Amino acid sequence: MEGLHTGNKVLDEERQGEATIIEDKGNLIEGKRLYLESYGCQMNFSDSEVVAGILMKNGYKTVPQDSQADLILLNTCSIRENAEQRVRKRLQAFKSAKKERPGLIVGVLGCMAERLKKKLLEEEKLVDLVVGPDAYRELPSLIEEVHQGHKAVNVLLSREETYADISPVRLDKNGVSAFISIMRGCDNMCSFCVVPFTRGRERSRDPESIVKEAEELYANGYREVTLLGQNVDSYKWNMTSKGRVKDESKPTVNFAQLLDRVAQVAPDLRIRFSTSHPKDMTDDVLHTIAKYENICNYIHLPVQSGNTEMLKRMNRGYSREWYMNRIEAIWRIIPDCAISTDIIVGFCGETEQEHEDTLSLMRKVEYDFAYMFNYSERPRTLAERKFEDDVPTEVKKRRLREVIDLQQEHSLKSNKKQVGKTFEVLIEGFSKKSDQELCGRNSQNTMIVFPKENYKKGQYVHVEVTDCTSATLLGHAVSKEPVEVV
Ligand code: SAH
Ligand code: SF4
Ligand code: F3S
Repeated sequence: MEGLHTGNKVLDEERQGEATIIEDKGNLIEGKRLYLESYGCQMNFSDSEVVAGILMKNGYKTVPQDSQADLILLNTCSIRENAEQRVRKRLQAFKSAKKERPGLIVGVLGCMAERLKKKLLEEEKLVDLVVGPDAYRELPSLIEEVHQGHKAVNVLLSREETYADISPVRLDKNGVSAFISIMRGCDNMCSFCVVPFTRGRERSRDPESIVKEAEELYANGYREVTLLGQNVDSYKWNMTSKGRVKDESKPTVNFAQLLDRVAQVAPDLRIRFSTSHPKDMTDDVLHTIAKYENICNYIHLPVQSGNTEMLKRMNRGYSREWYMNRIEAIWRIIPDCAISTDIIVGFCGETEQEHEDTLSLMRKVEYDFAYMFNYSERPRTLAERKFEDDVPTEVKKRRLREVIDLQQEHSLKSNKKQVGKTFEVLIEGFSKKSDQELCGRNSQNTMIVFPKENYKKGQYVHVEVTDCTSATLLGHAVSKEPVEVV
């Protein structure tokens, strides 16, 4: 029952847990057919686009099925035990394929590659290639090594690599919204989290290259970009991690300033970002969001727990009061902002009272959406070394159920409040159920489904909401004349 979530962000849901296949049909060259499968967070999906960019420059074309490939790459996630299990099962499934097709290369990229390194070659004997998140530029030469009959590994982490100059290949998406990676790594060391070990130190990408990527996407018809980082609020350009200026002759850029610059690329290019960190999110950022119509009114602000002692054990760097202060700042500065969160239940030593505090914080905030997880102990983390994973599975399950049930109530309540309102929606494509219906999100990131009429993907349309489920809003398009948009 781990990793259950409820609410209305279908695409995000897919991104968190499931694999997505990147494909590009074109002239296929024998020996250069790539099948790429991605797991984990949006950053990993964004990395897969970088990998596709690097390999396509080297003559590879992607294919939609592993059975057609010469090279199978899995871009993996280590965030919870079950994320790794899923990949292991997948690797087992490739075993027979490898026997039948002797030239087939199977490689593991991403966080599992970084966490397990050479061990992956030994544990999963069918893996030929192990490449960590900062070594993707080396992929062509590593593949060459495999062709020469060697196993190839590069898991070096870097303090500088941001792939700023690589043009990601956007293949899996609708041509409307795209990710832009603005930083890599994480310096926070939350005690439960494996990311600092798999992704290395935090580093920010050159703002010029970010703005340029947004401009190019806009020129190619994209109408929404999501700026990605593990902690976007700690984005810093030309500053040390302590905030000192590196080069006095050049300007410094923080996240609020970066948002400001990207928002000016075009008034009809929507800007989203993820993930915000409660300890670093400033009022400046909130004022920038409020200032620009095209910066979406939606903030994902993971709380993890509603209890201050627990937050200390988690090493999150804020208290319950601090978190609530940030929520109140959002309410004050961006009154119609949707807020979502991540919650971990059953972390080391969690008492019934601490669990209750999470529920009571949820009642205070009434999140529009949440990702909710059972704690899963990860090797090398602070928690693994210092604390005992002592909440019994049954208790974890029950607490997760309570958290999910409460969130479901809140998601439904939040959606019900939207019935009768009119929103500006960016059309992403057909709805899941019918090609007579289109779907897209409002600024608050809720999916809205409505009859197609003559509207098309990539257009903005005003939609009046007439009904809802806990996951989706339903409505119909109304005149494109100016209407009061909520
Ligand atoms: N950088 C983001 C989160 C990245 S991981 C942030 O700081 O908010 C996404 C989510 O996975 C986390 O917010 C957390 O809720 C969950 N998570 C991370 N490690 C976990 C673990 N060991 N067990 C269960 N959930 C975990
Ligand atoms: Fe992990 Fe914490 Fe960094 Fe998020 S901020 S990636 S939870 S260490
Ligand atoms: Fe998973 Fe790595 Fe992302 S562990 S959540 S793919 S940073």
